[in-house]
Amino acid sequence: MKLDSIRKDYQLAELSEEKVEKNPFRQFEKWMKEALEARINEPTAMGLSVVAEDGFPHSRIVLLKDFGEEGFTFFTNYNSLKGKSITNSSAVSLLFFWPELERQIRVAGFAEKTSPEVSDRYFYSRPLNSQVAANVSEQSSVIHSREKIDQLFEARKKEPVTRPENWGGYIVKPVRFEFWQGRESRLHDRILFVKKVDNWQISRLAP
Ligand SMILES: Cc1cc2nc3c(=O)[nH]c(=O)nc-3n(C[C@H](O)[C@H](O)[C@H](O)COP(=O)(O)O)c2cc1C
Repeated sequence: MKLDSIRKDYQLAELSEEKVEKNPFRQFEKWMKEALEARINEPTAMGLSVVAEDGFPHSRIVLLKDFGEEGFTFFTNYNSLKGKSITNSSAVSLLFFWPELERQIRVAGFAEKTSPEVSDRYFYSRPLNSQVAANVSEQSSVIHSREKIDQLFEARKKEPVTRPENWGGYIVKPVRFEFWQGRESRLHDRILFVKKVDNWQISRLAP
C-alpha cells in the first residue's frame, strides 16, 4: 500500500510563547472550548498509553469525562488491561488529536483512582443499558462468543443494577503538557509545559 503521496499542509493558526496561557490547564480549557465550538468529531476522545506488565506501552482510546485543575478524569473497568497496567505503573500519557483544528495535545501524568462517590455519580448518570453492560463485561478478558455476552446482558437487564466495585474512574494528574499547532512547511509550533514544584516552566520545542 503506497501512502507516501498523502500530504497536507497546516496553516489554520499559530501558537506562540507570548500568546499561550501561562497555566497549561487554562490553555487546555481554551483549546477544548474551541474544539467544542467548532463541533469537531469526538473532541473528548483521547489516546491513553500505559506500560503493561509485559513491558510494552499499550494505547487505547478513552473518553475524557471531567477536566479541571485536579486533572483529567475517565472511567473504565479496574480489572481491564489498562487498569492492571496502572496498578503496575501509574505513569501514563494522554493524547488528543484534533485534525479539524490541526492540533495535538500530549499530557504525561500519574493516574489515581477517583473516590467511590465520584465513580457512583458518573455510573448512575449513564444510560441504564450502559450500567448493565458494565456489570456483564469483564473487560479485556477472553470470551468464547458474542452470544454468551448477549445472553448475560439480557438476563442481567431483569435485575436491579449497581456499580460493580471494579468499575470506576481514574484521574490523571499532569506533570507535563505539550500543545502542538500545525504550521506551514512542517515548521510546527510546539509549546511545552513542565511542572516545577508549584510552577510551570514553559519552553518551545523544535518541530
Ligand atoms: C471513541 C472510543 C471511546 C472509548 N471510550 C472508552 C472509555 O471511556 N472507557 C473505556 O474503558 N473504554 C473506552 N473505549 C474502549 C477502549 O478503547 C478499549 O477497547 C477498552 O477500554 C479495553 O482496553 P484495555 O484492554 O487496553 O484495557 C473507547 C473506544 C473508543 C474507540
